[in-house]
Amino acid sequence: MSDATDRDTIDWDAFWREGSESARDTARPGRFDKPDQFRRFFASRGVPATVGSVGCGPADAEFELARRHPGVEFCCYDAAESVVAENRERVTEEGLNNISFGVATLPDPDIDRRFDLVYCYATLTYVRDSERAIRNLYALVAPGGHLVFDYPNRHTRATYRELLPEEVPDEGRFTERWRLVLDGENLLAHERIRDALGTWPRSFYAEVDREDPPRHSPCVFVPK
Ligand SMILES: C[S@@+](CC[C@H](N)C(=O)[O-])C[C@H]1O[C@@H](n2cnc3c(N)ncnc32)[C@H](O)[C@@H]1O
Repeated sequence: MSDATDRDTIDWDAFWREGSESARDTARPGRFDKPDQFRRFFASRGVPATVGSVGCGPADAEFELARRHPGVEFCCYDAAESVVAENRERVTEEGLNNISFGVATLPDPDIDRRFDLVYCYATLTYVRDSERAIRNLYALVAPGGHLVFDYPNRHTRATYRELLPEEVPDEGRFTERWRLVLDGENLLAHERIRDALGTWPRSFYAEVDREDPPRHSPCVFVPK
């Protein structure tokens, strides 16, 4: 039996502490397009004064954005203490003073402040009570701000089912990682998000002019 029995998916603390470079690379999708997408999002919606990122991992996008926007305060959180410690060392090495890291775990992050932008990317896949998580993330948004997140839906489940035979055995431990999605336990949908938050989510990818957004990996923003 896997070690996933008493937690939502894998042991993320061990994953970031012990994982090989190639394994870790399977869990840092934020490094690809997000900095450029946020350049467009900020152009259309305004540059936030404060950003809270939950499930930041190695925070590639957040570090890049913090360098680009020295006047914006970035507060980043992850459930894994090991990656939080690693990121703090990087902050010191790079001499940045507008980005900080702390431990917080969804669905109840227990963060006692509000942000103009709350961001949660590639993380709800790993949270059993994803609806409670988005309600709590939305509660972290200051009036006039935005919540941006992606989420697993029924297309994610179908896609993961197709991908899995090629992915096993593997370093990224996808069988355990995707367990909640494969079992259909934490899937969300547009209507369900509206019901949970009281506001219709809008397509983040349409807002930033991304062509052909993948339907198995929707990313939305919700104004407050
Ligand atoms: C696939 S990584 C995504 C990292 C980053 N957001 C990116 O896009 O590159 C998922 C991250 O979520 C964290 N995580 C997993 N379960 C979590 C939870 N319940 N609450 C907060 N973070 C969680 C993991 O430690 C990991 O860093």
